Formats: sequence, C-alpha cells, structure tokens
Amino acid sequence: MRGLKDKVVIITGGAAGIGKATALRFAEEGAKVVVADYADGAQTIQEIKTAGAQAIYIQADVTNPDNVKEMVNKTLEAYGRIDVLINNAGITKDSMMKKMAKEAWDAVIAVNLTGVFNCTSAVLPTMLQQNFGVVLTASSVVGLYGNLGQTNYAATKWGVIGMTKTWAKEMAKYGLRFNCVAPGFIGTEMVRKIPEQVLQEKIIIKIPAGRLGEPEEIGAIYAFLASDDAKYINGAVISVDGACTL
Ligand code: CAA
Ligand code: NAI
Repeated sequence: MRGLKDKVVIITGGAAGIGKATALRFAEEGAKVVVADYADGAQTIQEIKTAGAQAIYIQADVTNPDNVKEMVNKTLEAYGRIDVLINNAGITKDSMMKKMAKEAWDAVIAVNLTGVFNCTSAVLPTMLQQNFGVVLTASSVVGLYGNLGQTNYAATKWGVIGMTKTWAKEMAKYGLRFNCVAPGFIGTEMVRKIPEQVLQEKIIIKIPAGRLGEPEEIGAIYAFLASDDAKYINGAVISVDGACTL
C-alpha cells in the first residue's frame, strides 16, 4: 500500500483483537506503531519488534482525558508527529432494553463515544499543524442496522458515524481525512462473549459465507483507508461484514 512507510499510527485498544491485528498490519507496511490500551500491550509490541518494525506501548484509558493527553505527548516524544489515529477501543455491555441498567448505558457511551471524542480532539492540534492526518473509527454493522440487546452499543456506533461525517466536512480543507469502518461479526473476545446458541443459531446462520470475519480482514481495511491509495475517501463508512445484513 502506498504512503504508509514511516507514518506514525496510534491504535487505541491495540493490545488485543482487531486492534492487535491492525497494529501488526501497519507494522508490516513499515509504519511506526503506538499501541494504546488500558490492558497490557507487551505481547503486541514483542510481535511487532520480532517482525523488525518499530513500536511502543502506552498505557491509556480512552475515557480518561489525562491519559489521552499523555498518549499524545509520549507519541510526539518518541516519533515527533502523528499521522494516523485509529479509534478502535470499544466495549459491549449487552442486555435487552427492558433490562438495561443506566450503568451499562453510561459505561458503553464513555468508552465508545466519549473515548472517540477524547482521542480525536487530543490529536487534532498536531494534525492541523502538519496539514495532514487520518482518523479512522470503529463503527459496526450494529450501528447501521441495530441488534437485539445492544441499545447502548448501537447508539455509540451510529454516533461515531455522525461525528466522522461532521469532522470530514469541517476539516477536509486542512488536509485531514476521517472515515469509519463498520465490521460485521469478527472472531474476537467481544464476539466470544455472545451466548453460544445465539451466536450459532441467530448470527452465523445469517452470514452467507457461514463464518465470522477475521481481525486481519479489518486491519487490512484500516491500512488501506490510511494509505495514499484512499486519499479521496473522506467521511465514508466502509462495511466489512461478509454480507451478513443482506
Ligand atoms: N440476534 C437475534 N436474536 C437474539 C440475539 C441476537 N443478537 N440475541 C438474543 N436473541 C434472542 C435469543 O435467541 C432469545 O430468543 P428465544 O426467545 O427465541 O429463545 C431471545 O432473543 C432472548 O434472549 P435471551 O434468552 O438470551 O435473553 P437474556 O435477557 O438472557 O439475554 C442478551 C439477552 C444479553 C441480549 C443475550 O441474548 C445476548 O448477549 N445476545 C447477543 C447480543 C449480541 O448479538 N451482541 C453482539 C456482541 S459482538 C459486537 O457487538 C460486535 C459488533 O459490533 C458486531
Ligand atoms: P476486543 O474486546 O477483542 O478488544 C478491545 C480492546 O480494547 C482490548 O484490548 C481492550 O483492553 C481495549 N479497551 C477497551 N476499553 C478500553 C479503554 N477504555 N481504553 C483503552 N483501551 C480499551 O474487541 P474487538 O472485537 O477487537 O473490537 C475492537 C473494536 O471494533 C471495538 O470498537 C468494537 O466495537 C469494534 N467492532 C468489533 C466487532 C467484532 O465483531 N469483534 C464488529 C464491529 C465493530
């Protein structure tokens, strides 16, 4: 892919799942990777370094503005610029609406929506000064179409689309791009929490390929959207869902 070599990319939630696969893909493309996660990212860093690329881990909770500020400062200390932010950190707290506790609503909004605001606003001064930057955010098939048990999560995954389109309108003129990726059901810890019967009988059965997506299949799309090959894609939502909604 064109233009990713030596680019500095921050991936929130980069310690596991889609974030980890994305970190490894950017490293493969020659980027300098920052894994930002509240969980331990040592394993991801070790795999990147073993492959011969540069990477650092920064412990950061995206809900905490001080942590996020530090994430930006440490990235600038290490690499001197920020080219790409991938707002990947996300959580679920599923329950049917009739049973959903306010705590479950607040927790998911804090990470999936306010976390995206926190991280994006923290990298903007650098990107605006550079007249260059790409911000990619994890939406979901659930944001676009809804899903049983996911009132809170669906609200955040639709919400980030509105934010992304607004930012594209506001900041394309400064050389910045903002896009969302809307994955279908991908084989990570998040999906492994779905009750087995629901997963098999209500979800996988509706996927024409008959399988979950793989984290690497999402990492590849983030890499494409961050690359110069995608430089006229702005304010878009790219579905990567194996046609599970058709
Ligand atoms: N799709 C279709 N039907 C579903 C469903 C789903 N996702 N989730 C639950 N149902 C159905 C159940 O099969 C059950 O049907 P029957 O009454 O016919 O048996 C009915 O809804 C009630 O379900 P439960 O008996 O499980 O009710 P509960 O109150 O104990 O639990 C629940 C509800 C917490 C929502 C639980 O069913 C659950 O976790 N479902 C999965 C929700 C889900 O799909 N989450 C996606 C997580 S992955 C992710 O979010 C990533 C992404 O972006 C795609
Ligand atoms: P995962 O649960 O496997 O990994 C999430 C990572 O985010 C973990 O390393 C976790 O420690 C980190 N994280 C969570 N909260 C954080 C916080 N407050 N601050 C910093 N890091 C935090 O999840 P998965 O499946 O890899 O999902 C990644 C993103 O993709 C999420 O935004 C998710 O909503 C989205 N997505 C996932 C899909 C799937 O089917 N797995 C489908 C569509 C979207």
